[in-house]
Amino acid sequence: MNHSPPPLALVTGANRGLGHETARRLAGAGVQVLLAGRNREAVTQAAKHLRQDGLSVDPLALDVTDPAGIRAAVADVERDHGRLDILVNNAAIRIEEYGKQPSQQPLAQWRATFDTNLFGVVEVTQAFLPLLRRSAAGRIVNVSSLLGSVTTHDDPDSYAYSPMFKSLPAYSASKSALNSWTVHLAYELRGTPIKVNAVHPGYTRTGMNDGAGDLDVSEGASTSVAMALLDDDGPTGTYTHQGQTIPW
Ligand SMILES: NC(=O)c1ccc[n+]([C@@H]2O[C@H](COP(=O)([O-])OP(=O)(O)OC[C@H]3O[C@@H](n4cnc5c(N)ncnc54)[C@H](OP(=O)(O)O)[C@@H]3O)[C@@H](O)[C@H]2O)c1
Repeated sequence: MNHSPPPLALVTGANRGLGHETARRLAGAGVQVLLAGRNREAVTQAAKHLRQDGLSVDPLALDVTDPAGIRAAVADVERDHGRLDILVNNAAIRIEEYGKQPSQQPLAQWRATFDTNLFGVVEVTQAFLPLLRRSAAGRIVNVSSLLGSVTTHDDPDSYAYSPMFKSLPAYSASKSALNSWTVHLAYELRGTPIKVNAVHPGYTRTGMNDGAGDLDVSEGASTSVAMALLDDDGPTGTYTHQGQTIPW
């Protein structure tokens, strides 16, 4: 009889959109999930909804831009579980207005975007790394975007080579920086059981795109879920979409 506990995952920004679907899918695969988000009421409701389907999901209040809140969340997870196996850094914002030239996006939006999409990820990861190191098979999934691919942005045949997608310079650069962070952390953790990978979900119909996109959330969450559930012989330091490598 196997008495070992199920893997424990934390998904940031999981009260809606791709994060919520990722939490649901991981829980469906037998993972115990901490459904994290910055609004306590929203995460409580979202977790309750999934628990009604019989899934093992608990809410966790976590604003990735709030250092004290991050420390409190780590303390809660350490007290209740003593470790963390999977961290999905999913929370992000896209606050730039479509249609503006790259040079016209206000610096305040650059700073706010980087605070959440890069510094939030780095701070959450640094804070939870001691608990991930206690896992026999730690997994870190950084939810990036194809818009973080500088190679793709520079390709005239790419959909990113368009006024619409060139009007999100801060969002795109924040994801390029997230990709770089992924490579750096994977290097540091090579030779440990912890794997660190960046993913592109695909252009998915969520609130971030005002409902536009090519994929539904089920398809969009599939890459995060697959990289969260990697076997011990799986890769680290990659940037993929549904098993296909994306150029950095
Ligand atoms: N949708 C796409 O086409 C697409 C494509 C490529 C990459 N992505 C990436 O996929 C991830 C999920 O995107 P999505 O489309 O699901 O976006 P979404 O529907 O806008 O959801 C974003 C989630 O992040 C949360 N969040 C924002 N700031 C936060 C903070 N400071 N602390 C904690 N949570 C915070 C939001 O919480 P609130 O509810 O409180 O606002 C929400 O739960 C993002 O990293 C995004 O960049 C999406």
